[in-house]
Amino acid sequence: MNAENEKWIAAIASADYVKNGMLVGLGSGSTAAFMIAELGKRIAGGLIMKGVPSSDATARLAKQAGISLVSLDEAGTIDINIDGADEFDSKFQLIKGGGGALLREKILAHNARFNIIIADSGKRVERLGKFKLPIETIPFATQIIISELQNMNLQPQLRMKNNEVYKTDENNCIIDVDIFQKNHLNELNNLLIQIPGVVETGLFLSTTDIVLMGEGNKVVTFKK
Ligand code: A5P
Repeated sequence: MNAENEKWIAAIASADYVKNGMLVGLGSGSTAAFMIAELGKRIAGGLIMKGVPSSDATARLAKQAGISLVSLDEAGTIDINIDGADEFDSKFQLIKGGGGALLREKILAHNARFNIIIADSGKRVERLGKFKLPIETIPFATQIIISELQNMNLQPQLRMKNNEVYKTDENNCIIDVDIFQKNHLNELNNLLIQIPGVVETGLFLSTTDIVLMGEGNKVVTFKK
């Protein structure tokens, strides 16, 4: 079974957690796109729910799928947040932000009562960090932050797209760093967050409640 199928079955399984009347945080990325399409189908079949999108791309997809959207301000607390991940480990720690939406994704995760991660089996790792960790920075400080991250031996790379500096939905930059050799991720995250101009990191260390992982043609549930 391929990764696309594993993403799809995990996404379908996550839709079962969505009940009538819920406010649902809608993640970003290819796995979340399957979930959005499935929720759209269920709304057509009578499910009543509203979504809070984690990116402009997700907002567009959700509207196409027929999901009514509300802003985070209107929503207040989110009942369930469903999102993908670039990597997850056995401690429910994640690297996210491969698609650049980590800031709004982390805000939704923080403001949700229950967080579900949906993933294909290739996202499960013994140790986080083969995937480069995205760090969102404000443009004014980005170059000086790159120098600081170089001094921390994190091999920073400014993210580019079509030969231009990549910009997030919040008009910030992304610096991808190598954390594979790092053992104390909470400490590392605190260090990174304390650098002025760093807005957020893609380390999601404590928000996840459940991971639904497609593996072959089955969905494996990891509960905290
Ligand atoms: C978006 O910024 C990311 O955090 C995604 O959730 C993550 O990259 C997973 O994406 P895929 O589902 O496309 O692998």
